[in-house]
Amino acid sequence: MAVTDEYHIAHARQLATAMAAELGFPPVLACYVATSVSELASNLVFHATDGGTITLGPVRRAGQVGIEITCKDNGPGIPDLHSALQDGFSTNGGLGGGLPGVRRLMDDFEIITRPGAGTRIVARKWLSCQWQ
Ligand SMILES: Nc1ncnc2c1ncn2[C@@H]1O[C@H](COP(=O)(O)OP(=O)(O)OP(=O)(O)O)[C@@H](O)[C@H]1O
Ligand SMILES: [Mg+2]
Repeated sequence: MAVTDEYHIAHARQLATAMAAELGFPPVLACYVATSVSELASNLVFHATDGGTITLGPVRRAGQVGIEITCKDNGPGIPDLHSALQDGFSTNGGLGGGLPGVRRLMDDFEIITRPGAGTRIVARKWLSCQWQ
C-alpha cells in the first residue's frame, strides 16, 4: 500500500494485524508486527518527503511461516545509518525509538539506504521464533 498521509499509518497497522491473525500469529506477536509496520509507515510519512510503500506478505521456509514487511521510499535516504539505529537518535525531535524498536521486535531486519535516492527495509517475523 502507498503510505503518504498520516491516516495510512493506522490502516497499514490494521492490515498487518489482520494478516498476522490469519496466519495464526498469537496476539503478542501480531502486535510486534503491527507496531513495526506502524513505525516504518510513520517514518515514510515524516522522513521520506513523498512517502513510500509498505508491502506485507506471508513467507515460508522449512516448515515455518512468517510475515515479511517491505518498506520502500525514494526519499532523502539516511546519511548516518549507524546513528539512526541507536535508541534516542532522531533528526526531527522524535523519540528515536522507531528503527531500533523494529529491529528488536522482528527476527530479520535488513536496511539499504542511499543518500539522495531512498531507503528500503525488509523485516520478517517467524512464527516459530516467537520465544527467542
Ligand atoms: N524512510 C526514511 N527516510 C529518511 N530518513 C529516515 C527514514 N526512516 C528513518 N529515518 C531517519 O532515521 C532517524 C531515526 O528513525 P526512528 O524511527 O528511529 O526515529 P524518529 O522517527 O525520529 O522518532 P520516532 O520513530 O521515535 O517517533 C529519523 O529521525 C530519520 O532521520
Ligand atoms: Mg520513526
